[in-house]
This record gives sequence, C-alpha cells and structure tokens, in this order.
Amino acid sequence: MLRIGALVSGGGTNLQAIMDAIERDNIDAGVVCVVSSKEGAYALERAAAKNIETAVMRKKDYPSQRDYDIALADYFEKRNVDLIVYAGFMLILGEDFVNRFENKMINIHPALIPSFCGKGFYGLHVHEAVLKAGVKVTGATVHFVTAECDAGPIILQKAVEVMDDDTPESLQRRVMEQAEWIIYPEAVRLFAENRLKIENGIVKRR
Ligand code: GRF
Repeated sequence: MLRIGALVSGGGTNLQAIMDAIERDNIDAGVVCVVSSKEGAYALERAAAKNIETAVMRKKDYPSQRDYDIALADYFEKRNVDLIVYAGFMLILGEDFVNRFENKMINIHPALIPSFCGKGFYGLHVHEAVLKAGVKVTGATVHFVTAECDAGPIILQKAVEVMDDDTPESLQRRVMEQAEWIIYPEAVRLFAENRLKIENGIVKRR
C-alpha cells in the first residue's frame, strides 16, 4: 500500500476527493497522516472522521523556515510516507523539505500551468486573474512539487470553460467540480500504480 501524507491549510475538499476515490476505486493507497499549517482547518475534521492521524504544525511556532521544513520532513519520514499530497496547503516550503522528498510530492493548482501560477497566485486570486485576463478556458493542473513554486513536472491537466457571468467564486467552484476533484485522485492512482516516469522534466504516463 502506498502511504500518503497530506499537507492542508483549509477546507480539504481535494483531500476528501482523494480519500473517497481510494475507497471507491480500490486504489492501493491510504492517507496515513494529515498535517495542517492552521488550527481549526476543516480538513482536519475530514481526516479525523476517517480515523487518520492529524497534527497542526504552525510556521510561527518555529524559529526559522529551515526549522519548520525540517520538523515537517521528520514528521513524514517517521511515518514512512511514500507520497506527500499538498491539498490546499498555503505555505511554500524550502529546500530542507523539498529535497528530502524529491519526485514524491504532488500539488494541485487551480489553473492551467504555466498560466496564472507562481507566487501570489493562490486561492481566489487565481480566478480573479483569469477573469481579468478574459480567457475563455481555464482549468486545473496536478504537478510534482519542486523548490520553484508551481514549476514542477506536470502530471495531469483538465480544461474548464469560463462563463461570461462568472465571479471568482463561481469559477473556483466549477474548476473544483469539473477538474480538481477528478484529476487529483486520478494522479494519486497513477502514482500508486507506479505509472509516472519523469524524463528530462517531462512526465510520461505508462
Ligand atoms: C484548491 O483550489 C486547490 O487547487 C488549491 O487550494 C484549494 C484547496 O481547496 N491548491 P481544498 O482545501 O482542497 O478544498
């Protein structure tokens, strides 16, 4: 079984989609622990409801970014985690974390990378920028996490139509329903089945 550790900061609908898909589709994987960067994140309740171990680790409780990164990495390593899923995790982690789980971390971004991504493009800001640009298609991207924000090898993408009367909130919802909750569990399945190979920074599916 693929042992998954999740990083969360908020509502956890992507975490829920992954946990549900693992049960429904008999994926040979299990979420074994969930760490939140914030107290009271609803994602923690979703995990507890499935009897999954949870922890809150706040950056401000550590003397430096480096100490935080090391504490998080130690936490996951102690639990023999094979894959780390960023599921609405609002912080960027440094090399002291990222280098210890190379090619074993995945993230979902609510746009079609390389558009509308990078520093500052998170949450509703992404959808606001999409509407401001007037593009007619957006979507979501699952990618491997590297030290550079939103720049790791792309695993899956799915396009979603932008409507004339969209608000950032309505677009966010449609991107989640029509893309994120579908491709994130699918990427976990591909990883669990060892079907993702990275060749020169490009993901090939086998
Ligand atoms: C999602 O839009 C995801 O793409 C982004 O953060 C949001 C998290 O939502 N990375 P949730 O916590 O999974 O509901």
